[in-house]
Parts: sequence; structure tokens; C-alpha cells
Amino acid sequence: MTIFVVGAQNGGSREVRDIQISNISKKTIEVDAIPVVEYTHPDALKQFTNADWIPQTMQSRTEKDGDLTILVQYPFMFKNTKLNYFTSNLPASSFETDRKKFLGANEYGTWAKPLSLQNRELSNTEAQRGDNIAALLHQLGRLKPGETRQLITQLGQEPDLAAIKNSLAKYRQPEAISAELARLATFWDTYLETLQVETPDAAMNSMLNIHNPRQCFTTKTWSRYLSYYQLGLGARGIGIRDSSQDVLAVVAALPEDARAFLKILLSFQKRDGSAMHQFNPLTMEGSEGDSLENEDRPHYYSDDHLWSILGVTAYLKETGDFAFLDEIIPFYDKDKNGAALESATLLEHLKRGLGFTQKDTGQHGLPLLGFADWNDTINLPTGAESLFTTHLYGRASNEFCDLLEFMGKQALAGSYRQAYQTLKTKVEAAAWDGGWYVMYFDHDGTPLGSQKNKKGQIHLNGQSWAVMSGFAAPERARKAMDAVYSKLNTKYGIKLSAPGYNGFDPKVGGVTTYPPGAKENGGIFLHPNPWAMIAESILGNGERAFEYYSQINPAGKNDQIELYESEPYVYPQNILGDEHPQFGLARNAWLSGTASWCYQAGTQYILGLRAEYNGLRVDPCIPSAWDGFKAVRRFRGSLLRITVYNQEHVCKGVIQMTLDGQLIRGNLVPVLTGGEHYIEVWMG
Ligand code: GLC
Repeated sequence: MTIFVVGAQNGGSREVRDIQISNISKKTIEVDAIPVVEYTHPDALKQFTNADWIPQTMQSRTEKDGDLTILVQYPFMFKNTKLNYFTSNLPASSFETDRKKFLGANEYGTWAKPLSLQNRELSNTEAQRGDNIAALLHQLGRLKPGETRQLITQLGQEPDLAAIKNSLAKYRQPEAISAELARLATFWDTYLETLQVETPDAAMNSMLNIHNPRQCFTTKTWSRYLSYYQLGLGARGIGIRDSSQDVLAVVAALPEDARAFLKILLSFQKRDGSAMHQFNPLTMEGSEGDSLENEDRPHYYSDDHLWSILGVTAYLKETGDFAFLDEIIPFYDKDKNGAALESATLLEHLKRGLGFTQKDTGQHGLPLLGFADWNDTINLPTGAESLFTTHLYGRASNEFCDLLEFMGKQALAGSYRQAYQTLKTKVEAAAWDGGWYVMYFDHDGTPLGSQKNKKGQIHLNGQSWAVMSGFAAPERARKAMDAVYSKLNTKYGIKLSAPGYNGFDPKVGGVTTYPPGAKENGGIFLHPNPWAMIAESILGNGERAFEYYSQINPAGKNDQIELYESEPYVYPQNILGDEHPQFGLARNAWLSGTASWCYQAGTQYILGLRAEYNGLRVDPCIPSAWDGFKAVRRFRGSLLRITVYNQEHVCKGVIQMTLDGQLIRGNLVPVLTGGEHYIEVWMG
């Protein structure tokens, strides 16, 4: 069976199922096919809390469309505005819309063994209340051995019956299904052809060529909105921070989507430069998320607004589309009628973001934590400072300065560079703890992530991001990353912090709601693992970057699946850490920032293929044992066929590069004018 979803006339979507039934036995058999769907009320939470109101409102009826049946369903209040429908491309001899009738009196039957299937036909009940389903019985007749019949169903919603009937014809045709599937296949081929690699590591190839970019498409589409773990009820929506990071992994393959999405994300930025935390994609309403839960804590996250700077600069490096910076985008603040109080250029939005953090500082002159930073679960009393936000600011500011300098705005860049240097001095003066960097300062100046603490003594992000921001001096950077290796690394991945808190402490917040070893409390939270790979690549340690990459590579988990339990082709969000009895168990697969960042770490830092404003940098940081690797990369309209030789068996360093056989200086492939080009790179 193939299931796919296509756009519907009303801007919604319809689900089409292409069901192929084959007789794989050696005898001719008679076959009935009964596709079934079960409806929820649009207020799905009420379904759990009010078992009278919901069933009193749910109704179903049948309509004829020639010799085909359409089952129409609606909660009573929507009977003239929103009709659900279920239909097929073959005549049905009977139908059912009442779940109780389908499963059997008093529902003693189960979905595994519905009692109504013991009858020749379904009961043809048009439900006037109760739990509504849609089931159509099709007598497919006698199928000879090897014979196949095709049944196509459609499930969707339209405002009225006429709209339903008008919309059905296309996907009743098997040719339309084939055409739709061919279109999908072309989409995926084009998407994946943006970059294909051939390294000595089969598990890395399988992830970077197919599964990892596939997951990146999923996170770009769904953010953290709806998954097997986030069940779509309640306030969760598209996360500003999450999506700004997801975009980073699709700017090359889907630049237009990235552009449009970044504009939407920036429209949730407020005039003061900070941003809303999330928005509901159905209503486009923003919210401050969980930060509203605590009256006495700040109602903003200190990182949300900074991520889009990385998104925009990544998009510009990939595309060279600098007109993007002049786009006018509204701020989220609105008047009584819902109109934006102010709009500004995209460039101005980026400035406001940096400006907010420059001013929002605490007693060491470091950026404040707000309700939380990237780590949702550290919720300290008002006044705490966050080294995460400090480093994110540092990286975003560097990116912004590179952009300004490329655009010839040296004076403006200079003032940001100066602010960066001042902050660097403050970090180095306040945050070095002897063996590593601290992660926070509490409102009273007490450090967290320090040897002085009993719990949460060392945090991964405090070290990796000190390298990624460029704030860490070289010796400290090395020392800090070695502390990560000795204190946080496990065979299943790097822990977010250690040791875990052991008991709820409202002063520290969400992290203490977990037992030690779970999630942000000393668990192997995967999203920050690629940041450690990136930091090690920046420092030139290709062995360690690749060790970190491989130890969490899902494609390498096939022989541990009993313990790991997650899909071996998709990054999960978390793996239980070594303080937990189920060390190694993975959860929350699919919708995790791990996808975007592992893709970036693997392709841009380990393989070192990085888009820049005036070309594609080739700067690998690989295990010294590798003889090299190959890659084919689409970049600014050209196809680059890259071969990297590592005859000297180093981790990092390019000594020679040729473009179509001609020696070129440095390791930057310039922007070319289209066509196919051969790049050879020698490391040493
Ligand atoms: C979840 C959230 C993400 C957050 C992370 C760490 O993955 O979706 O926004 O950064 O947890 O707390």
C-alpha cells in the first residue's frame, strides 16, 4: 500500500491510499476489501475528557456519486462548513459508519477481530451519534494466483458536498497516482543530488547520501510540532529556535523554501529584537511557550532570536541572493486590529537581534539566561547569565561581521567586532573554571557547570560552543574539549552534563524533573553531539570528530538494536546516559535538531565542504587513516566533482588544489558559471 498526501482545493490536504491486493497463494480465492478510518473530533483533547458532548455531536451519512459511495462525516456544528469524506474508486456493496456496529455489540469485538466481518455485508448504518468510522466493503471477486487488484481511497475535508464531488475525479484514476509517485521520486532525486559522497565509511555514506538529508526535510517541515512523541495536542507549534536550525541543513537543496521559511520565522521577532518562542502553523499565532508558566521568571528565551542570523548568512553563502537582506518583514508586535506596529528590512531584523543580546546582560557583563537558553530545562531565577547565549551571540556576531565586510560595510562591521572582543575578554576573565568553562552564573553569581558544584559540574555546550564562538583561547579550547572526552563521553554518545541532579529542585527547573541519566539531566542528548564534532574539526582533531560522529551514527546501530530500540536510519533526540540503568536506550526519533547539525558536522566540518560568500571551501578534517574521499556537490548552478587525496595521512590541511586540471591557490573553489567541473584536492 502506498499512502501519500496531496494539496486540496481549500488549501488543506487529502490523503490518497493506493491499495494493491495480490493473490500470492496457489489457489483462486474470493476477496473482499474493507478500508476503514476512524474519526476524532477536531477538539481531540475533549475526546478524552468529555465522553458525552463529543459522541452527541458526531454524525455520518452516505452520498452517491454515480455508482460510487461517499461517506460524509462531521461534528454537528460543522455540518454546513466542514465535511470530512471517505470514498474509493470502486463500487461498495455495503458500508459502516458506527464503530460499535463494526466491532460488535458492546464492542466485544476488537480491531484485530471485528465481529461484523463474520457477516457477508456491513450494516449500512448512517451514525447519528457515537464513535464514527468510515468503512466501505468492496467485493473484488475471484483473484487467480498471481492476480492483483487496485483499490484507491481518498480521505479529506471540504466545505460542502459539491466541493467534495468536484475534487474526487483526479485521484480515482490509477494514472494520476503513478504520475504523483513519479513526481515525488523526481523531487527526492533532485533533493538528494545536491550532495552525494563516497567516503571509506559505509555507515557515513548511507546517512549523508539518503537518510540524514531525508530526516532534515522532515524536521524542516514539521519542526517539533507533530510526531510519534509530540502528539499534536496542546500548545506546541513550530519552534523559532528549532526551525532556524533546521533550515541550516536545507539551504543548499531547497533554497527557495529556506528563504520563504526564514521570512516567516523573522516575522515572529519583536521590535526589541527578541523573538517569540513558537507559533501555531494553522493560526500563525505566536507564543512565549513554557516561559509563561512561571510568573516570577522572564517570559522570553535568550537564544531564539539569534539563530536566524545563522540561517540567513548560511542562505546567502549558498545562494549569493543579497537582495534578500532588503526584504521588508514585519515585527510581531501588533496593534488592536492585529496590524504590525513596525516593519523593517531583513538586515535591520538581524541588527535588532544582536542589539537585544548586547543590552540584555548581567553582573559579569554576559548575556542573561531569560527563561532558558537552548537548554529548555535550566530555568534559574531572574538575573542568571548564560554562557550558551554568550557563545551563540559570539558566533552569530562573527557571521554577521563577515557578511557586512563582504558587502563593504567595514565601519559597521568594526563596531560589532569591537563588541565581540569586549565580550571575549569578559568570558575569559569570568568563565574559565580551571579545567573547563562554566555554563551559567546564577542570579547571585554562583557558577553552574563548575567543579564547585556537586551536580551538573561540567556541561558539553559550555565547551563546544566556546570553540564555535571563537571566544576560547587555543590552550583552553583544547583543554575544555579534552575534559568533554574524559568526563562526558560514553560509547553511545556524549552526555549533555554530569553528574545528573537527583531530585526536583524548583530553583534549577525542568532538568531536575528527570532521573539522573535521562534527557537533559546527564542523558546523551544528541543535538549537541555534532557541536562537539564541529569543535573538534575546528581544532583539527579528525580522529575525535569522526569518533563522535560514528558512535551516534544510527546506521551503525544494527547490532545493538535490542538495547537501542530506535530506527537505525534516523537520529533520535536522546539516549539514556550511563547513570541510568537502561544506558543506551534511545527515544524521541525524527524531530530533533540532531538531524540538521549532524548533517552540517558531517558534510561541512568532517568532509569540510562549506559554502562561503565567494565560493565553496574544501577544508576536510578526517581520520588520518582515510586515503581520501569523493563528493559531488551542486553549488550556485554548477556541478562540482570533488576528489580529495590523503596520501600523507593527515587529519587536516590542504596543500594543493586543482580546478579542471589547473592549479588554483588556496582551498576555495570560486563561484563558477555553470556546467560540470572537476576539483582535485591533496591533503598534507
Ligand atoms: C528539545 C526542544 C529544543 C531544545 C532542546 C533542549 O529538543 O525542541 O528546542 O533546544 O529540547 O532543551
